Amino acid sequence: MKCRVCRGPAIIDVRRHNANFCADHFLRLCRDQTAKAIKEFDMIRPGERVLVAVSGGKDSLACWDILLDLGYDVDGLYIGLGIGDYSDASGDAARRFAVARGRTLHEVDLPRDYGYDIPGGARAARRVPCSVCGLSKRHLFDQAALDGGFDVVATGHNLDDEAAVLFGNTLRWQTEYLGRQLPVLPARPGFPRKVKPLVRLGEREMAAYCVVRGIDYIVDECPMAEGNRHLGYKEALNAIEATSPGSKHDFYFGFLARASAHFRPEAEAEQETLRACPQCGAPTTSDGVCAFCSLVDRAGGAVPVHLRPRGAADPATVPG
Ligand code: AMP
Ligand code: FES
Ligand code: ZN
Ligand code: ZN
Repeated sequence: MKCRVCRGPAIIDVRRHNANFCADHFLRLCRDQTAKAIKEFDMIRPGERVLVAVSGGKDSLACWDILLDLGYDVDGLYIGLGIGDYSDASGDAARRFAVARGRTLHEVDLPRDYGYDIPGGARAARRVPCSVCGLSKRHLFDQAALDGGFDVVATGHNLDDEAAVLFGNTLRWQTEYLGRQLPVLPARPGFPRKVKPLVRLGEREMAAYCVVRGIDYIVDECPMAEGNRHLGYKEALNAIEATSPGSKHDFYFGFLARASAHFRPEAEAEQETLRACPQCGAPTTSDGVCAFCSLVDRAGGAVPVHLRPRGAADPATVPG
């Protein structure tokens, strides 16, 4: 196996590109693909301050690393979700990376700052953990970016994530979600711009990127995500990709180029009904307080719950 660029020994094959790469040219591919996505979708402009949301996993740490190497001014944001050992290990990975690169990591801790953790919040709100988690993260990303004077929030969503979400939204024709599924959401009053610079790179490439760069990321998946529909969609798309390399790319980028605009009016109509939350000031479609404030009201101050991580003999105590 030889590198497509230099003919030296290759360390990875990227079937979507029908090519193999040595370590150096693989890193260059990752940076080039990220730079191409940023340019194509006008994600980040020169001089802007970027806040990258890092979970301690491979995608978001790779995203931070690549953006720094591309010369952007990027701080990190870590949100402690209070999911037992998983959150402890995630936070440590994010902190180690920040120290290694000499950059600032901003931290919000749900149990400490808002009085609830994801398992407790899910029970109080009678919603699945991932839904409470997504709602909390979106709100806190926006708030941290606006409070800190950042122009852009970047997340580590990659091509596999975006294709799986698109697959799910298409299976159920969730047209309102389809209208919002973009690699860039422009800034609006109360919202910073949101970008996904890794949309041209797959999950396997991001794992390889971290290994080559020596980035020590948390490998475990969130224990609350078990049975999550997206994992099934990812497996289905992986089976298709195995026999037809490039399918995920064509599915997602074909949607953006040819279908996405049809769904946008519906998504935009919803935004016209936004008003400010009387409690926190964040934009909301609700008549009363926003979904985040309603969650905090219901779950805040909840007693610490016990969570049994996968494969562990004793329940770990979730910090309260
Ligand atoms: P997920 O929703 O877990 O698929 O994560 C999607 C993206 O959200 C990641 O790539 C990160 O950019 C961001 N993210 C996830 N978890 C956290 C967290 N605990 N703190 C900050 N950012 C996060
Ligand atoms: Fe959000 Fe697991 S990371 S529920
Ligand atoms: Zn090479
Ligand atoms: Zn609110």
